[in-house]
Amino acid sequence: MTVITIEQAGKYDGQEVTIRGWLYNMRESGKLLFPIFRDGTGVIQGVCALKENPKAFAELKGLTQESSVIVTGKIRAEQRAPGGYELGVSKVEVVQRVQESTPFPIQLKEHGVDFLLDHRHLWMRTPRQTAILAAREFMDSQGYTLTDAPMFTPAACEGTSTLFEVNYIDDKKAYLTQSGQLYIEATAMALGKVYTFGPTFRAEKSKTRRHLTEFWMLEPEAAYVELDEAMELAEGLVSAIVQSALKNRSRELETLKRDTSKLQNVKPPFPRISYEDAIKVLQKHGNPAKFGDDIGGDEETIISNEFDRPVMVHRYPASIKAFYMQPDAERPDLALAFDMLAPEGYGEIIGGSQRIHDYDLLVKRLREHNLPEDAFQWYLDLRRYGSVPHSGFGMGLERTVAWICGAEHIREVIPFPRMLYRVYP
Ligand code: 4AD
Ligand code: MG
Repeated sequence: MTVITIEQAGKYDGQEVTIRGWLYNMRESGKLLFPIFRDGTGVIQGVCALKENPKAFAELKGLTQESSVIVTGKIRAEQRAPGGYELGVSKVEVVQRVQESTPFPIQLKEHGVDFLLDHRHLWMRTPRQTAILAAREFMDSQGYTLTDAPMFTPAACEGTSTLFEVNYIDDKKAYLTQSGQLYIEATAMALGKVYTFGPTFRAEKSKTRRHLTEFWMLEPEAAYVELDEAMELAEGLVSAIVQSALKNRSRELETLKRDTSKLQNVKPPFPRISYEDAIKVLQKHGNPAKFGDDIGGDEETIISNEFDRPVMVHRYPASIKAFYMQPDAERPDLALAFDMLAPEGYGEIIGGSQRIHDYDLLVKRLREHNLPEDAFQWYLDLRRYGSVPHSGFGMGLERTVAWICGAEHIREVIPFPRMLYRVYP
């Protein structure tokens, strides 16, 4: 028997196939059963009649939600069925029956958020799926080599206030990484164009719909690349991801009821405005922001509402940015940094910059930021041995997916969210 995934059903119209999955839901109407099966690639409605398939009917009747099943039947086009095809069920093999005494805890009705989060390991089975990202494909196509960064680090990358300290061996202190950047600056000096894509950690005390304490970041880094080129790469990456989601995941976006017209425009060129102009935009809207202020979530929304696609804000005051950022040659009080703000109030999805490549200036900045020079000797080596201008950025995976899916809260788009008050399950 041909085993297929539900996603492939369209290619097997009129043929008998086998699907291995779970019973998502079932409607019973006398001598007819209408089970809905899911297998992780999609859902398909089945039809089973007592008269034609008494054995299959008996297996299915009363079967509990989320029981695992292998079903065989003929695929046929059906306009009214979700996905456009249905399965005429002829054989059912129950792999594991969920006991009536312990029914699947997540019913197909509204549950409170805390209840759902406590059952996150089961909640993820409902078909709100995230868009599958084309991010790796894009980076590979641009000639970037994937190099991994460590999770244990000896020092901070993005400020000391959000470090998770861990007890390393023999009472030595280590920290969970906030960003792989410093390490891929090293691999960029070895391989030219690199990226890392992995978990990062921030002891964020913020309880917002944009903050996690553990999230994934995709970070490219390239030698001989300056700020403008890094911004072009960021624009290309985000466009590629959005266009791929529109092309390959339209059904999922429909399930999520995403207004995709808002995503169609996400193509280069993205608007670019300087931090100083962004402050003017805020002031025009009556916001009290002034030069030197950080741009918070509400301010990001005001700025991004001016545009129909993501906007890149560049050249922030050096005083509010990270220690490693290269100053603008014409305006040393500004850092060659940029943030990409997503539309529709989703805020910053990318932060990046050109890096300081001058040894003396980097030492000066480490001291100004009270960072332990010992722990940064290896990083200073990159400025001792063939230092070159280089740039990169970090794209927050969950923030990007939340925006593309139109999710209310970032916790919906990561299988096991880690937040201020949540480390279970
Ligand atoms: O702007 P950030 O802090 O930049 C860096 O970490 C740089 N070292 C990256 C680099 O240049 N290689 O973080 C980058 C992105 C943000 O734009 C945001 O999308 C995401 O990471 N991010 C978070 N996402 C969820 N929860 C949090 N607490 C986040 N903090 C940052
Ligand atoms: Mg940032």
